[in-house]
Amino acid sequence: MKKVKISDEKLRRTQTQKQESLGLTAKPRQPDIKTMVVLCKRCKSPIEMPVVSRLVGEEKNYAPRLCSECIAADKKREREDVENSRCESVVAAKRQRQSAIDAICADLPGALASVGVPAHYLSASFETCTGIPDDILEPAREWSKNPDGFLFLHGCPGSGKTWLAVAVIRFCLAAGTRRLSEIKFISERGFLDSIKAAFGNESAPIPARRLPPDEPTCIRLLLLDDLGANRMTTFALTEVAGLIAARYDDDLPTIITSNLSPDEVGAVVDVRTISRIAESDMMFEFPTRDLRIAGRTEGNVRE
Ligand SMILES: Nc1ncnc2c1ncn2[C@@H]1O[C@H](COP(=O)(O)OP(=O)(O)OP(=O)(O)O)[C@@H](O)[C@H]1O
Ligand SMILES: [Mg+2]
Ligand SMILES: [Zn+2]
Repeated sequence: MKKVKISDEKLRRTQTQKQESLGLTAKPRQPDIKTMVVLCKRCKSPIEMPVVSRLVGEEKNYAPRLCSECIAADKKREREDVENSRCESVVAAKRQRQSAIDAICADLPGALASVGVPAHYLSASFETCTGIPDDILEPAREWSKNPDGFLFLHGCPGSGKTWLAVAVIRFCLAAGTRRLSEIKFISERGFLDSIKAAFGNESAPIPARRLPPDEPTCIRLLLLDDLGANRMTTFALTEVAGLIAARYDDDLPTIITSNLSPDEVGAVVDVRTISRIAESDMMFEFPTRDLRIAGRTEGNVRE
């Protein structure tokens, strides 16, 4: 006999018709759920809640709960607590920062010494920069408020470049523009010596050097004193140009003092170096006068 294949759908329809004819049509089961009223455990307002019908009247068996208003109030309070603690930590951080600045201001010469400023310059400040023309002093003051790029101070020996440069970093420390750990004074000589000390001798391969993070290449504010004051060996040229290029690349503000004019830096170090220094257009030539020889230190510089 030939088998007739019946589809699932047809089979289901036939079964339903059969059940209907016998009065057995399946009705959807009603969930066995009712509602009952319990009291909010905090404000005692009534809460309607669904319960399995056989448990109606056994409210005491239900764990006490909160009404929607009390839940919302709790969430709001939680959010406020988080916000308050955030504000408190901001206030605490500001207070901590201010007390660090106060401690620095209480001993500015000590702070300057700790960032490497030589003893002779510990009393340098804008107030003691007498006789510096306003068209040098004022831009330097502005730069100290928001150090950015290079500040290049050049001129003859004894004209007061280092004094003003130190006044700039003194201002940054006192105003909290930069932290103590973010400032460094180093002379070109000191810089070259520190590199030699770090890798033994001048001929060591450059990748062999390992410099700590507060090194001149990465400190946030550097005063590089006396650029070009040393014999410019290939080593010295490479290192000095490398330092300036690294600081330029990383947008790290740098004050440079030098007896070399911008053109001379181009000739003695290299044109790439002076191109970077010149970009921020903050190059100032000091008046030709040697304050050391003039013996004006005593008379003009107020301690
Ligand atoms: N504005 C100033 N008024 C009076 N005296 C100053 C002033 N600036 C610096 N001096 C004094 O003059 C001397 C020379 O200053 P400074 O060392 O800053 O000169 P410099 O231009 O850096 O010289 P060099 O090129 O030799 O490094 C310092 O002893 C300092 O006390
Ligand atoms: Mg100097
Ligand atoms: Zn409630």
